[in-house]
Amino acid sequence: MNIPCRGGRVQVVGAINVDLVVVTPRLPAPGETVVGPRMDRYGGGKGANAAVAAARTGAQVELIGAVGSDDNGESALAELRADGVDIGSVSVSAESPTGVALIVVDEAGENQIAVGSGANAEVDAAQVDEAITKRSPPSDCVLVSTEIPGDAVVAAVRAAEAAGVWCIVNPAPPIPELAEVLRHHPILTPNAGECHALAAMSGKDADTVGEAADALMQTTGAPVIVTLGSGGVLVGTPADGFEHLDAEPAVVRDTTGAGDTFNGVFAAHLAAGATLMEAARTANSAAARSVSYVGARAGM
Ligand code: ATP
Ligand code: RIB
Repeated sequence: MNIPCRGGRVQVVGAINVDLVVVTPRLPAPGETVVGPRMDRYGGGKGANAAVAAARTGAQVELIGAVGSDDNGESALAELRADGVDIGSVSVSAESPTGVALIVVDEAGENQIAVGSGANAEVDAAQVDEAITKRSPPSDCVLVSTEIPGDAVVAAVRAAEAAGVWCIVNPAPPIPELAEVLRHHPILTPNAGECHALAAMSGKDADTVGEAADALMQTTGAPVIVTLGSGGVLVGTPADGFEHLDAEPAVVRDTTGAGDTFNGVFAAHLAAGATLMEAARTANSAAARSVSYVGARAGM
C-alpha cells in the first residue's frame, strides 16, 4: 500500500552524490578484487535520494546542499529538476568536485559504499539557516541527514525548531555533532547500528536495539523510529511506547537507498498531515519496494 499525498512542503538538507555501481557475485574482502559485468551510474546521496522519494510521493520539495561545477554536478541537478525537486538552495562550488559514491552490490543485494564528499563538505551552516528561516510559506517538515558538515546539520535542526516545524534527523552516518542535535528534540530515524551509536553518545547503556531506542527517546522526548532492514521498523513515541512493523515481502536486488526512501516518504506524509504511525507504515511499504531495483532511486 502506498498512499499518495499532495501539498506538504518538505525541505531536505543533505548530500548529493553520483553513485558508481558495480554488481558482483560477492563483496570484496580487504585487499581483494572482485569483477562484475559493468559499472552503472545513478543519482545518489542521502539528501538527494530522500528529496526524490518525497517528491515522488507528492510533496513540494526543496533540497539544500552542494555540488561541484562539473559534469557530475550538472547531471545531478538535471535529475533532481526532472523529479520536480527545487534546487534553488543548492550551491555550486568552484573549488570542489561533486560528491561520488563507489558502490559494490552483491547477489544478495548487500552493499559496500565509499563516499568522496567533494562539495558536500562545503554545505554551509549560514546557507542552511537562511534557506529554512527565510522559506515563505515555511516548510511543514525539515529532513536532515549527516553526510555534510556537522555545523550545517546543527543549523538545520535549530532553524527547524525555531520555525516550529517537524524536524526529522536520519543520523547516517553518526557524527559527533549529533550530541548537540539531540538537545533540539528531533524525530530520529537511525538504523540499528546508528541507534546503538547514538545511545552510547548520550551516555546510555543498551544491550538491545529496543533498549537503545528507548534510551534515545528518553533523551530527546521525541519519537524514535529505527529502520531494521528486512526486520522492518520499530516505531517509538513518548505517548504510546514502541510498536514493531514487519517488513513487507520483497525480492532483494539492492538495498542501497532503502533508508533514504523510508525517510523521504515518511517526511512527505508527515508534512501532508498524516499521523506518525500512518507515515511510518507507508514509508515501510515504499522502502520494501525500493530494494527490488538496482540503484538508490530506481525503485522509489
Ligand atoms: P541505507 O543506508 O542503505 O539507505 P539503512 O541502513 O538506513 O539503509 P535499512 O534499515 O536497511 O536502512 O532499511 C530501511 C527500510 O527499508 C527498512 O526499515 C524496511 O522498511 C525497508 N527494507 C530494507 N531491507 C528490506 C528487505 N530486505 N525487505 C523488505 N524491506 C526492506
Ligand atoms: O543511502 C544511500 C546513499 O549513500 C547512496 O546513494 C550513496 O551516494 C551514499 O551517500
